Order: sequence, then structure tokens, then C-alpha cells
Amino acid sequence: MRFDVLTLFPEMFDGYVGQSLLKRAIDTKLVEVRLHNIRDWATDKHHTVDDRPFGGGPGMVMKAPTVVECVEEVQRDTTPGHLVMLTPQGRRLDQRLVEKLAGEERIVLLCGRYEGFDERISEILKPQEISIGDFVLNGGEVASMVIIDSVIRLIPGVLGDEDSSVDDSFSEGNRRLEFAQYTRPREYRGLEVPEILLSGNHEAIARWREENSKERTRARRSDLLSPDSLGEDER
Ligand code: 6GU
Repeated sequence: MRFDVLTLFPEMFDGYVGQSLLKRAIDTKLVEVRLHNIRDWATDKHHTVDDRPFGGGPGMVMKAPTVVECVEEVQRDTTPGHLVMLTPQGRRLDQRLVEKLAGEERIVLLCGRYEGFDERISEILKPQEISIGDFVLNGGEVASMVIIDSVIRLIPGVLGDEDSSVDDSFSEGNRRLEFAQYTRPREYRGLEVPEILLSGNHEAIARWREENSKERTRARRSDLLSPDSLGEDER
């Protein structure tokens, strides 16, 4: 799977792309990440990429010609990718959307600064607009990394154990929080690991985990159990 990231700050991705899980996926050719600096498409001598908003107000707006021409040139490279624009006005990302994105062969991620894009960019390019939640980031770069990170773990072979994303919370058929986990030592500051987990009784352990997972979901995220959050088949 290939990601093209269009950004004014490609260096923000250096640490993330060099990190172990993604790095291994890149080395084994399961994933490719190409960074493109939107500024390279600016045509004036100062390489202007944004300007003050018509009508006044704070902040700067990304200019339509620079962004549109950048996207069009990157899309011409091979078969066009699924174009995603990162914006707080977009559809909120959830695991269902992550699963859909994982079905794409190529995704082009367009990152903007917070104040936004000239509206004509969306009108011309018709991207899928995605937000990662109801809070404000300074730009779409971190949101792009969130998308790459959540999507690549669904690509077969990217995780060490092929099956380890199947039972993830929030995935199709699992709208529950994970059960509590423990590792050594058995006792720490007076807190003991639940006895049942040390019993070797796999059925009893499975039952305990099921119950723990249900209880945690009820206590912390009862919204996940309400009909609104369920898929049609689960309702
Ligand atoms: Cl995609 N961009 C910005 N600037 N802020 C956000 C966001 C995206 N998603 C949540 N907040």
C-alpha cells in the first residue's frame, strides 16, 4: 500500500517513518510513504503557499492554485490514489473508516494548516474530508500519521502476528474495550494479579476476560453499547 503525503512540513514525518513497525513494513515493501512539499508547487519568487482570508479575520488560508496543482501532479504519477483532506470539518475517523481506507491501494493525504484551505480546493478535487476528533490541531500532519498508523496495522504481514489486529477494540464485530492485562511481578505495591490469570485454566481465564471487558465498557464507554454506535447487522 502506498501513501503520498502532501504537506508544508515533511520533516515532521522523519521520526515517525523511521520508527520500527512502519520502518519494517517499508523495508519489506508492504508499505511505501512518499512525502511531497506543497511549497515546491508555489510559483512566485517567495514561494507563497498561503494568504490572508478575503473578508478579514485571523490566520492564513492555503492558496488554491498551489495545492490543486500539487495534488494533480502527484496523482499523475501512477493510478490516482484515494484523496483524503485532513480538516476539522471532515468526517470523524473511527475504526470502521480505518477499515475502509485499508482497502485502498494508494492514499493521498493532503495536510493543511489549521485556518484552512481555500474552499475551491475541495470543489475542484472533491477529496474525502476526514477529521480525527473534536479538538483542534495546528495542522493535518499529526492527523495524517494517525491515519497511516491505524491503517497499516490492518495490512496483512505488517504486525508480527498476522491475526493480532482481528480482535482489536472498535473493529467490525467488536465494540468493546480490551480487558485488563498484567505481567510480572505478581505483586506490586500490595496490588496482586487476579488469581484466575495464574490458574492455567484457559476457559476460566477466557470467561474472566469477557466479563472484565464488558464491565469496563459499561463503566467507561457505555456509548459503544448504545444502538447508535452499532453497525446495521449488530443493532
Ligand atoms: Cl484533520 N486537522 C486539524 N487541523 N485539526 C484537527 C483535525 C485535523 N482533526 C481533529 N482536529
